[in-house]
Amino acid sequence: MTLVDRPLVQYAIDEARAAGIKEFIFVTSRGKSALEDYFDHSPQLEQELRRKGKDDLLEVLRSTNMDSGEIAYMRQHKALGLGHAVWCARRLIGNEPFAVMLPDDVIANSDKPCLQQMVEAYEETGGNMVAAMEVPRDKASSYGILDLKEDLGALVQVKGMVEKPAPGTAPSNLAVIGRYILTPNVLKSLNKMKAGAGGEIQLTDAIAAQIDGEGVFGYRFRGERFDCGSKAGFLQATVSFGLARDDLKDELLRYLEDMMASKNAAQ
Ligand code: G1P
Repeated sequence: MTLVDRPLVQYAIDEARAAGIKEFIFVTSRGKSALEDYFDHSPQLEQELRRKGKDDLLEVLRSTNMDSGEIAYMRQHKALGLGHAVWCARRLIGNEPFAVMLPDDVIANSDKPCLQQMVEAYEETGGNMVAAMEVPRDKASSYGILDLKEDLGALVQVKGMVEKPAPGTAPSNLAVIGRYILTPNVLKSLNKMKAGAGGEIQLTDAIAAQIDGEGVFGYRFRGERFDCGSKAGFLQATVSFGLARDDLKDELLRYLEDMMASKNAAQ
């Protein structure tokens, strides 16, 4: 999916790189082979752009390239849940802390990219960390929700986590957003393959199993989150990212203003 002129996965890679991450694993599935081509070199196109002197486009193209060994792809053969998707990559992750990013959660408009904020906070806390954001109470059942032990401001210490709680049962309105820094013990919990909410193997449950061990922290990040997994969220992200672009903002703003004016006049 393309947000303005770059696929969502590119925003995730840029954010990960800003946080100091140098090795990437994509867990993909059938029909997503375009992803591998996207991050590959395109010698013919590069040559063509060079010949035409289109240096700016050449630069954009180069920024999408990945060096050999920097990126790996892992297939999830059955859609058994987010926890299962992460588990599929267990051998590549090995025995070290790792970050998980869900590219449909796009986070923008902050002084520092979200994952970088989390890495800095993690240097103080260790353990496991999830990005967190307050959501309206009636939306809590769409998220993983944190049960708070101690609220320290940006950081919260977690005493429980529930994936997609039934309406009216959420322990708080602090939701997990798609950025995580996790320890290899989470992979060990995932080995048990226990199905949770919706019959899926949930990452939330495997993280919750670490609460009494290494600990789990929520981190209220700075920035605006767009849920690009929903149609309305994706449209909002498109407008917001469009308005943030010098080459697009004037034309887009004029269009939006004209549209609002004619809508208001018609009422
Ligand atoms: C996933 C996680 C959920 C989290 C959400 C954030 O759910 O399972 O805990 O709150 O991402 O976007 P999904 O949106 O894949 O249903």
